[in-house]
Amino acid sequence: MDHRERHARLFNRIAIPYSWFFAGQTRSYAQCFDIGRRALPSPHGKRALDIGCGTGAFTSALRAEGWDVEGIDVAQEMIAQAAKSGLRCSVVDILGAHGIADASFDLVSAAYVAHGLPLEDRLILYRECRRISRDTVLFHDYSEHKRLLTSIVEYLEGGDYFNFIRTVRQELAENFSAVTVLSVGPQSAWYVCKV
Ligand SMILES: C[S@@+](CC[C@H](N)C(=O)[O-])C[C@H]1O[C@@H](n2cnc3c(N)ncnc32)[C@H](O)[C@@H]1O
Repeated sequence: MDHRERHARLFNRIAIPYSWFFAGQTRSYAQCFDIGRRALPSPHGKRALDIGCGTGAFTSALRAEGWDVEGIDVAQEMIAQAAKSGLRCSVVDILGAHGIADASFDLVSAAYVAHGLPLEDRLILYRECRRISRDTVLFHDYSEHKRLLTSIVEYLEGGDYFNFIRTVRQELAENFSAVTVLSVGPQSAWYVCKV
């Protein structure tokens, strides 16, 4: 089994316990919008795609902001949980998502997805986001400020967290025309990228 299959299997397994945190997560994401909303285009009449939507907390926060939003995720069990909140969502692997048309969304987001992928897959994620968005790409993810519990969880998850937080700014600068970084929490940031 390769790392992509292991990753999807992990999120299929933890979908139900993950969903227990949906309400708290959505509230915390709503507070991030209070800090970062001004860095995004106005949502009215505009389409957003939330990549790696999981149980749908960030998707739900985008919907509350007024975006016409849909979510995609590679893990079917996560999508099953997101659908329970009435979100439009479907099972799609963004690393092979050739069915999504070029420039078909005004905003493309990915919350806590990028740090979990190895660099080679992150570069595919950035390329796909650039292709699909006609304006802005928003990565909500970890900042360089580490916390012990997160470090332990991320070590156990086996993603690329430790490299990601060191190199994310440089990676994004190389892959997008402009990047604004906003601190939205003690260990989280919004990376607002222009295609
Ligand atoms: C840490 S969870 C974050 C979920 C959600 N965005 C949130 O903030 O609660 C990462 C999500 O990314 C999804 N994911 C990972 N690789 C993916 C891929 N290649 N295509 C689509 N989704 C992917 C996982 O299945 C998982 O649901």
